[in-house]
Amino acid sequence: MIEVDRLSKRFGSGDDAVDAVKSVSFKVDQGEIFGLLGANGAGKSTTVLMLTTLLAPTSGDARIAGYSLSSDGAGIRRSVGAALQDTGLDPMQKGGGLLELHARLFGFDRKAAIHRRDELLDLVGLRDAADRRIGEYSGGMRRRLDLAAALVNRPRVLFLDEPTTGLDPASRRAIWDEVGVLRESGVTVLLTTQYLEEADQLADRVAIMADGEIVSTGTPAELKAGLGADVIELAFDEEGVAEEAVSVIGPPANRLGQVVRIPAADGPAELARVVGLLKEAGIESSSLSLSQPTLDDVFLNIVESRGEGVGR
Ligand SMILES: Nc1ncnc2c1ncn2[C@@H]1O[C@H](COP(=O)(O)OP(=O)(O)OP(=O)(O)O)[C@@H](O)[C@H]1O
Ligand SMILES: [Mg+2]
Repeated sequence: MIEVDRLSKRFGSGDDAVDAVKSVSFKVDQGEIFGLLGANGAGKSTTVLMLTTLLAPTSGDARIAGYSLSSDGAGIRRSVGAALQDTGLDPMQKGGGLLELHARLFGFDRKAAIHRRDELLDLVGLRDAADRRIGEYSGGMRRRLDLAAALVNRPRVLFLDEPTTGLDPASRRAIWDEVGVLRESGVTVLLTTQYLEEADQLADRVAIMADGEIVSTGTPAELKAGLGADVIELAFDEEGVAEEAVSVIGPPANRLGQVVRIPAADGPAELARVVGLLKEAGIESSSLSLSQPTLDDVFLNIVESRGEGVGR
């Protein structure tokens, strides 16, 4: 349903040029939920903007719902829906009115537009807020309205750029549930997120982007399995001590705050080695446990091995 072929985007030219997306290729099957993961500036939004025809690629091409990006942008625009990161919703507009307007723009007659509006308000749980101005909506309500607006033309392919960033856990759940309902109806979804937990829950397959490139692709389970069976987790009283522990243990140890995690093929054996190293260096941990890798471990491992900081 989505087939991306060596897509690239360069902003600017000469010394100031930024290669935001570098020859990215991937495929998404019909009905799949595909997660594009990456830190700030990795190139996620730029990729989504190109695939939704809102930004011209520097090179490369893609086929979406059978239409070519380079030769049939109009076909793509008819087939896709998008909830983008920076939406310019008019704060004076009412939620229900916005959906009705979108439906009219897509060629629904008045009666059909009202029907579609009500269907979508019910789907995203905004029926009660339909007559309130968007300016009065909470962040979570706006995201749900974005999602509803992206669905007006019953798209076969849906692009969601960070649909849950900044939302509280309950609102995130609500969006996840709605994406789940869409999956049931056979819609193909490409979503970007910085929440690896979210990709793990929602996505059938994920691609991890770093610095404009796709550095890893697979199911969440495959990516985690690639790291080994176990993860050793050590907690320290202070970040400085955790930092010291990372330098004593060496790669693939990585640190998030006061916690150090070490992926290992053989957890118990590695645990003995790590405890020995810390003892030798006179470093004490406040807790120690053995667990399974998470997508966070996959992500930190990739970022670490590329020598990049998270969230540059
Ligand atoms: N219009 C633009 N002009 C110049 N540079 C841009 C433009 N848009 C994006 N960039 C640059 O391209 C790179 C990728 O940006 P992009 O917005 O695609 O990242 P992202 O993965 O969506 O990040 P975030 O998680 O912060 O949304 C960044 O270095 C960014 O500064
Ligand atoms: Mg973005």
